[in-house]
Formats: sequence, structure tokens, C-alpha cells
Amino acid sequence: MSVHKEVKKVTTNVLQEMKNRQEKIAMLTAYDFSMSRLLDASGIDIILVGDSASNVMAGHVSTLPITLEQMIYHASSVVRGVKKAHVVVDLPFGSYQGNSKLALKSAIRIMKETGADSIKIEGGYEVGDSISRILTAGIPVMGHLGLMPQSIHKFGTYTVRATDQKEADKLIADAHYLEKIGCFAIVLEKIPASLAARVAKEVSIPIIGIGAGGDVDGQVLVLHDMLGITTEFSPRFLRRYLNLSEDIVNAAQEYIKDVRNSDFPNENEQY
Ligand code: KIV
Repeated sequence: MSVHKEVKKVTTNVLQEMKNRQEKIAMLTAYDFSMSRLLDASGIDIILVGDSASNVMAGHVSTLPITLEQMIYHASSVVRGVKKAHVVVDLPFGSYQGNSKLALKSAIRIMKETGADSIKIEGGYEVGDSISRILTAGIPVMGHLGLMPQSIHKFGTYTVRATDQKEADKLIADAHYLEKIGCFAIVLEKIPASLAARVAKEVSIPIIGIGAGGDVDGQVLVLHDMLGITTEFSPRFLRRYLNLSEDIVNAAQEYIKDVRNSDFPNENEQY
């Protein structure tokens, strides 16, 4: 008899139960198979295939250029490395705004072609039609409010959002709206901690913060930032857990030295 140990997948219900039990949710981004396999082994709750791939994988200055096809490539690679974590995928710029039929088509492509568990969309009331239509297909949607990098040309800067009352009031109204129409969670990016805490208290679905303080239901960071692969990006909210850029450059320099000196390969490293 073979003993088959079932891995309990992190579903949207599991995430809601975590909020109900006041257990914090840990989320990181990944864009490829090797990293997602390691993150899944670490016990991470959610892996976000973020459109930040546009920056950290492709070297663009914003998230706007990444295409749906490219997001599908990244997401399907990530999914192949994951057994347990919930995998959520960003709908990229231009694949959902102002056209709910296009939004549904884009979301269906992501779910069908990658095997992901849900999708994420930036925006509140203004993208409500797109979110509602996607939800009719049984596709779970995570919202994203506060700093929304796809709207960088509207904001003009990556600075803290909702510091004035008008924008804070809209954000609170949008969070309630996203909960009401059926989003299973919301990311709040770069807003005052007190505002994020208020939203997490008032709204019953999980609130995941990035630069939104500690009084929310979970945290997300971009993997390349927290591993110290990116070095030029140092916002206050970022905690670096490794300095991989230095380790990688050092390792490459050691290798170059060994090759130049004919120290690599040695007798044990050949056939
Ligand atoms: O694309 C991304 O990585 C994100 C996170 C910053 C939340 O949306």
C-alpha cells in the first residue's frame, strides 16, 4: 500500500480563516520555477506573480510594458514549482481597464494557461465592472489600492498615497466596495499605517500590506528586494533579509579567477 501524503493547498477560504484567527499571512513575489519551489518549501502562504516582473525580471522602469503573454509565461513557470502556496497573478496594464469583457477574457487566459489560483487587479470603484464580471466566472479576485504602480503616469510619483483626507476617504470607500462585490483580499500599498489599520479593522476580508504598517492581516514584499538582489531601491518599508547582489558578484568573480588561472575544472571535476 502506498502512503500518499496530501498537501493542503492554501485556498481563499484558508486565507479568510487565517484572518478570522488573527494569524498573519506571509506573501512574497516570484516569477520563475526555481524560486517558487524554494518559497513553497519555506511554507509561504501566498506567492504573487507580480507585474513587478516588468521591473525586476525585464529591467523596465515601470510595470506598464509587461504583456499578458509574458505574465502567463512567468505564472505557468511559478505554478510548476508550487504544491501548497496560493498563487495569485497580476492582470497587467491594458488587459482589464475600461472593458469588462476584455478583463474576463484576460483572467480566463491566466487561469486556463497557468493553473494559478486567483488574479489581482489594481483599482477600486473604477474597475468594479471588470472585477464583477471576472467573479461571475468563479475566478477569485484580489484587489490592490493605495499606490498602484500601473497608474504611475496619473500619480506622477511613487510616494506615499492617501495622506490627504479626500484620497483616504476614497480608499476606505473603495476597500468596502471591493469587499462588497466579492474580492477575497486586498493589497494596500504605501499608505499611512493608521489608515491601513482602520481598513483592516473595518473590512472582513484579509488586508495584505506593503509599506502599510503592521496592523494589517499580512505582509508582501518583492522577492528581489528582500533578498538584496536589487540595490538601487531602498524605501523605508523594505527589510532586506539577504545581500544576494554582493554574494552573486563575489561568486562570479571567484569563478572568473578560477577560469583565468586554470584552477577550474580540477581532476575531480572532469571525466
Ligand atoms: O507587482 C507586484 O509585485 C505587486 C506588489 C508590490 C504588491 O503588486
